[in-house]
Amino acid sequence: MCGIIGYVGERNVVDVLLDGMRRMEYRGYDSAGMALLSGDRFDVIREVGKVAELEKLVHDRGLTGCLGIGHTRWATHGGVTVENAHPHSDESGRFVLVHNGIIENFLDLKEELENRGDHFSSQTDTEVIVHCLARLYDGDMVHALVELQKKLSGSFALVILRKDDPDGFFCVRRGSPLVLGLGDGENFCASDVPPLLPYTREVVYLDEGDIGEVTRKGVRLWDDKGCSKEPTLQEVDWDVSMADKEGYSHFMLKEINEQGAVVRNTLKGRLAEGRVDLSEELQWSQELVASWRNLHIVACGTSYYASLVAERALSKWTDLDVRVDIASEYRYRTVRTDEKTLAVFVSQSGETADTIAAQRLARGLGAHCLAVTNVRGSTLSREVHDTLLLKAGPEIGVAATKTFMGQMTALYLLALYLGRLRGGISAAEEIRLAEELSRLPYKVETVIARENSLQGLAERYVSCRDFLYLGRGYSFPVALEGALKLKEISYLHAEGYAAGEMKHGPIALLDDKVPVITVIPRDSLYEKTLSNILEAKARRSPIIAIGTDGDSLLETYADHVVTVPWTDEEFTPFLSVVPLQLFAYHVAKLRRCDIDRPRNLAKSVTVE
Ligand code: F6R
Repeated sequence: MCGIIGYVGERNVVDVLLDGMRRMEYRGYDSAGMALLSGDRFDVIREVGKVAELEKLVHDRGLTGCLGIGHTRWATHGGVTVENAHPHSDESGRFVLVHNGIIENFLDLKEELENRGDHFSSQTDTEVIVHCLARLYDGDMVHALVELQKKLSGSFALVILRKDDPDGFFCVRRGSPLVLGLGDGENFCASDVPPLLPYTREVVYLDEGDIGEVTRKGVRLWDDKGCSKEPTLQEVDWDVSMADKEGYSHFMLKEINEQGAVVRNTLKGRLAEGRVDLSEELQWSQELVASWRNLHIVACGTSYYASLVAERALSKWTDLDVRVDIASEYRYRTVRTDEKTLAVFVSQSGETADTIAAQRLARGLGAHCLAVTNVRGSTLSREVHDTLLLKAGPEIGVAATKTFMGQMTALYLLALYLGRLRGGISAAEEIRLAEELSRLPYKVETVIARENSLQGLAERYVSCRDFLYLGRGYSFPVALEGALKLKEISYLHAEGYAAGEMKHGPIALLDDKVPVITVIPRDSLYEKTLSNILEAKARRSPIIAIGTDGDSLLETYADHVVTVPWTDEEFTPFLSVVPLQLFAYHVAKLRRCDIDRPRNLAKSVTVE
């Protein structure tokens, strides 16, 4: 939440900052701002709304320069106003900074500063940080930032300009991500990699507590005690086209269309002689694997739903006691986590505050921790014992689509691998399932090619206000995910329910204005779900069924049938989720919603 950026070099800093902020807008889009340093003059421009609003202001003022910082905001402390937009400065106007994160003790600090005579012009925690910094600074920036870290509790990544330092900027991270981008005669820093991609793929991920100085000539790093350290250079394997729309009207549609490739890429290099082999990435000894009794999967939102799908496969293919939790719940109740637990944390961004905190808890209790994430170098991936990457490429649309697919793929690989290591599955069965997994990209692409029918359905039902999504077994989490997609991008009320639970309550909601979207592949629970369709039909609800190719029976029960190719029961979510994503997309488009940047949301939820 909130994206921050800094640049120093020969280019027009205004263009670099605006472009970078647009590429990070998924992190927040309540307001935006930038500060430029030219000579010893700061120009600070802030505006409410998206980056495009700021852009108009900046161009009206004809600003240029070579050094500056920028911010795109998802409001936490203080309403969405120009005064609360970043950057913020201290009273003397010596420092200007942008912040991503939350300062938990800001009220105490503010009171202390006010007692010492400071005045504040915003309600933000960020303004308190810059006032503290101004008071701590005694000519040594590194020392001031070491001391500042001791004063602040909470999470933060900061990029800071100092009026008497025209050569560059400082930055610091604790709890919120920050990555430096290294160029030729120019250097960058940002919350995420996408803003850096047009200029460089050489990056340095800051560690917890790291302090950086970024100038045109290079970067210098210190740890949280002020000891100098060598930057560790890494090359990112994403390229700039991956973060562009490439002709699609929305990132979400582009990302839905990439899903076949995501499964393919996530499988690549992980199947050998028809069997799953993750031994290069997960260097687990036989003793370690044999010591596990429990498997906990912890995640939020869409990642949680991908985990619920995987829970079913993991329970089937391994002998482990599998449980899946929402991260914000896992943290606050008694869970038997110990050395006999493999704890898997699933997070697209690797920056979700609750998931990270849950990981710290599980690790503290002795669990072996594995991250399943899309972002190499993310906070989560740096804290766990092992990481399994999705290889989905950057996901820019705020509503997750292709990473849901990538997460299911990675978790299924894990399930088959664990099944093999622990003897829960025969070699022949593993080979057969791995073969079907390899066929999925083509099947996913077949479903995507049927987009037109979903557009038609969206036109038919766009005026409805409430939707019920039903599914059983593997299709239950798909129903949850389908409902989540519709509500987050179209702002319509949608509920996902276990089909068998409908008669225990939600059935009271049904009438001819409430469509029931039922995920009903030809699986072992088919007949049961068919009965639920009949129950809903008896209450006059229009029925939309997501079924299997060739299922003519469904036609007689449902008002509309959308089918996907046949696959084994375990793999049905990979196919049946796609029509639900496309339906949500087209409904939102018809309702003229801001599909890639839905209101009130941000892609990485870095607050608890
Ligand atoms: C929904 C969505 C969110 C995220 C959730 C977890 O489309 O994107 O529900 O899935 O905020 O985010 P990650 O996976 O980054 O931990």
